[in-house]
Amino acid sequence: MRKHKQRIGKIIAIIPDCQVRPGVDTAHLSWIGNYLSEKQPDYIVQIGDFADMPSLNSHGKLIELEGRRYQDDVKSVHRAMESLLKPIKAVKNYYPELVLTMGNHEQRIDRVAEEQPKFLGTLSSADLQYAQSGWKVIPFLKPIKIQGIEFCHYFISGAMGRPVSSAASLLRERQCTAVQGHVQYTDLAFHKKTGNFGLFCGICYLHDEDYLTYQGNSTRRQIVMLHEVHDGTADPMFVSLEFLRHNYA
Ligand SMILES: [Fe+2]
Repeated sequence: MRKHKQRIGKIIAIIPDCQVRPGVDTAHLSWIGNYLSEKQPDYIVQIGDFADMPSLNSHGKLIELEGRRYQDDVKSVHRAMESLLKPIKAVKNYYPELVLTMGNHEQRIDRVAEEQPKFLGTLSSADLQYAQSGWKVIPFLKPIKIQGIEFCHYFISGAMGRPVSSAASLLRERQCTAVQGHVQYTDLAFHKKTGNFGLFCGICYLHDEDYLTYQGNSTRRQIVMLHEVHDGTADPMFVSLEFLRHNYA
């Protein structure tokens, strides 16, 4: 088999929203771990909402919240993170930079503690143990630049601070290559001259979300590899969970 000789630029792997919670299938996380341990990207970025935290859902009806437990949510996240990272950590002399940009679902924990001070010191997003797992944790909505490319759970525009609604508006807003998660759909827009792009990187879970319609649930499920990363440009490649199931399970 032909071995890679020389890497052109850096490789960044992006893992979109996983929405891990008790009772959902997380088998794909070990497929991703196997794939990444073989491809060995320089950076692995998890774009936020790795955790779903349904016990803290303030939008849900009381009947839907029945039986939800914070501790169960947190434990399911620990287990899922372990299955993602186990194959990667097993590779000798491979130490990718792990970066996790916190999502609104993780933010739920700190928001509850802030809104109800009685929980201060007992509930915290630190309970998810991302940092202990090796991730550099970037606060919710704080963009981080890696090799000239911006990453954030989502980007906002306008005076109202609303999330941008398309890859084209993301590109216009940031004026550089920028990647976000948060929404279910995948969107990609290249700038004609600079080669910069805006990317909505889709979703990375096997389960269906009840709040989405049948059509909403037919969205792309994937990770995204950025190859030839250099000075804020890159070559994106989509790797579907179905491909990973067939080749890396
Ligand atoms: Fe989100």
